[in-house]
Amino acid sequence: MDKFVITGGKKLSGSIEISGAKNASLALMPACLLTNGVSTLQNTPELNDVYTMMKLLAFLGADVDFQQSILNINTLDITSFEAPYEHVKKMRASVYVLGPLLSRYGKAKVSLPGGCAWGPRPINLHLEALEKMGADIELESGYIIAKAKRLSGAKINFDISSVGATGNTLMAASLAKGETIINNAAMEPEISNLAEFLVKMGAKIEGIGTSTLEIEGVSELKPVEVVTIPDRIEAGTLLVGGAITGGSITLKKIQSKYLQAVISKLEDSGCKIKTDKDSISISRSGEIKPVDVSTSIFPGFPTDMQAQWIAYMSLSGGVSTVTDTIYLDRFKHVPELIRLGADIKVNENSAIVKGVERLEGAKVMSTDLRASASLVLAGLAAKGTTEVLRVYHLDRGYQRIEEKLKALGADIKRVPGAEF
Ligand code: EPU
Repeated sequence: MDKFVITGGKKLSGSIEISGAKNASLALMPACLLTNGVSTLQNTPELNDVYTMMKLLAFLGADVDFQQSILNINTLDITSFEAPYEHVKKMRASVYVLGPLLSRYGKAKVSLPGGCAWGPRPINLHLEALEKMGADIELESGYIIAKAKRLSGAKINFDISSVGATGNTLMAASLAKGETIINNAAMEPEISNLAEFLVKMGAKIEGIGTSTLEIEGVSELKPVEVVTIPDRIEAGTLLVGGAITGGSITLKKIQSKYLQAVISKLEDSGCKIKTDKDSISISRSGEIKPVDVSTSIFPGFPTDMQAQWIAYMSLSGGVSTVTDTIYLDRFKHVPELIRLGADIKVNENSAIVKGVERLEGAKVMSTDLRASASLVLAGLAAKGTTEVLRVYHLDRGYQRIEEKLKALGADIKRVPGAEF
């Protein structure tokens, strides 16, 4: 298992391009199962989660070719309808094949994703929506066994706004008979990217980008090209990198509309931010002001930036409260940040972060993707050397982050096959 060795204290500077969004790719890729032929996904990021989804699609019989951010997926010869445990245990987003397989082929067997590193992540809403559309769903030996002759449109009212359940339902409804209305649909940009891809394929979807999606099912969808939107969480993480080191950086190929909540919190903390059509620049020279954050669905402050924000606030000049309303127990990074000298107390779903004068390098352990990102950020600002172990978590969702950080002047190196 690789580790990162970071010598902190270098101010980030310069500019870097943002890669395609992981969470968009993971929805766009299974959507290709709804068609018969070759779809082209441009701006696909080179990430382990993308490779895992490629392997799953190949297991189902798709022919997958990925070169220089262009991913071609040929679905002419789908021969299996099963997402086995070996794939799903690596990545929960594998459950995204359920909706498309069921609506296109009338059957799917998908391993039930268990809890994740920081706690339970149920998929009841995915299953309830598909059942409402006429699917017959049973749970057997750890698998979801779903069958349907042809799904029928239905009125789906989600109690909770769920990215995955909206994505799965949207894909299923596109080929269902009749009209589906999804109320309280997720409004995340990755879902809009998926919906626009489906519309290009021939789906009839109204309300894209809003919390009500109306889908008139069609009998066939055709393979097309799509451009994956930029990764707003990679961008947000790097913006915090600029902020926490007191640097000055420009991110290219990213639009501020994806990051309004993060940008305004960064401004509140004392950063100067300039946005252009396709770029965001950040600089900070004064003290980091303490800023409270509470995560919420888009366009609110994303839960996927909560860990990074806690790392940043660890060096603020006061006390801040960071609350996660989406994942109440997503705080595995806190004990590791404390190893670096942070002063943080978790109380239910909030972290009370008392800014310290400085963090000190230490060995820390990655536990999940965003937790690991927070440790890297803290390491960039800490005095001395920080070793971040188990960086395979980062490789799941950040395209060669150490190279991007190095290009921005960070002192960071990957040590392959190191201790764990
Ligand atoms: N929920 C349910 N039942 C369900 C589905 C969700 O109760 O059937 C709850 C969850 O427990 C959570 C809330 O609804 O409290 C929202 O979860 P959501 O379904 O939106 O999450 P997801 O689709 O499983 C995606 C991202 C996550 C991101 C969340 C929230 C992908 C592949 N994953 O997960 O990304 O945190 O939305 O924005 O799109 C990450 O990139 O690090 C990551 C974890």
